[in-house]
Amino acid sequence: MPLVAPSLLFADFLRLEEQCRMLNESETDWFHLDVMDGRFVPNISFGPMIVEFIRKTTEKVCDVHLMIVEPEKYTEAFKNAGADHLSVHIEACPHLHRNIQQIKSLGMKAGVAINPHTPVNALSEIIRDIDQVILMSVNPGFGGQKFIPHTMEKIRQLRKLINETGSKALIEIDGGVTVENAPEIVKAGADVLVAGNAVFKSADPKKAIAQLKHS
Ligand code: DX5
Ligand code: ZN
Repeated sequence: MPLVAPSLLFADFLRLEEQCRMLNESETDWFHLDVMDGRFVPNISFGPMIVEFIRKTTEKVCDVHLMIVEPEKYTEAFKNAGADHLSVHIEACPHLHRNIQQIKSLGMKAGVAINPHTPVNALSEIIRDIDQVILMSVNPGFGGQKFIPHTMEKIRQLRKLINETGSKALIEIDGGVTVENAPEIVKAGADVLVAGNAVFKSADPKKAIAQLKHS
């Protein structure tokens, strides 16, 4: 069964504590926290302060996805805010190996995210050093977009690369995941399903999470 990581980008921030309680009572495994700086992506979301509030509401994994330039400047701030996992974009890190060392030295699980245009083999020299790969199945910056179909092939390629190198990295799929496409995504080799729209815009979020869990 896949791990389910609802993206709080789609939460109702007027009722944030209530929404976190709902997730805690559901089959959610990770809280996926999308950090956007308005430079790496054309949107601005939230920073360490909000992560700190969310941290107080849950014992579940806080899986922080940094869609920002110069993530090395904020790694410690997100650690102090309570991040358990921290993923940086390969496209934002000219010294990615050093970014991963920094994240791990602070005691967090280290992840690398790649955009739809970035080939899977760009990960070949870092794949052994990381705990997860976020395969973006939409162009980052916004929730509620359509799953980009060629991501299925990238999942299979990444599964092959992980198996060939003996990496322990989990495959996390982020963007446009629904209860309809989740079974095929899991079959292709995904370990973790991020879902924003499919959960928070659902009439019954807990049911949607359970359906994703049992994909
Ligand atoms: C997009 C974010 C995703 C997004 C997921 O840049 O990284 O996590 O919020 O939302 P949905 O599931 O609605 O595509
Ligand atoms: Zn994300």
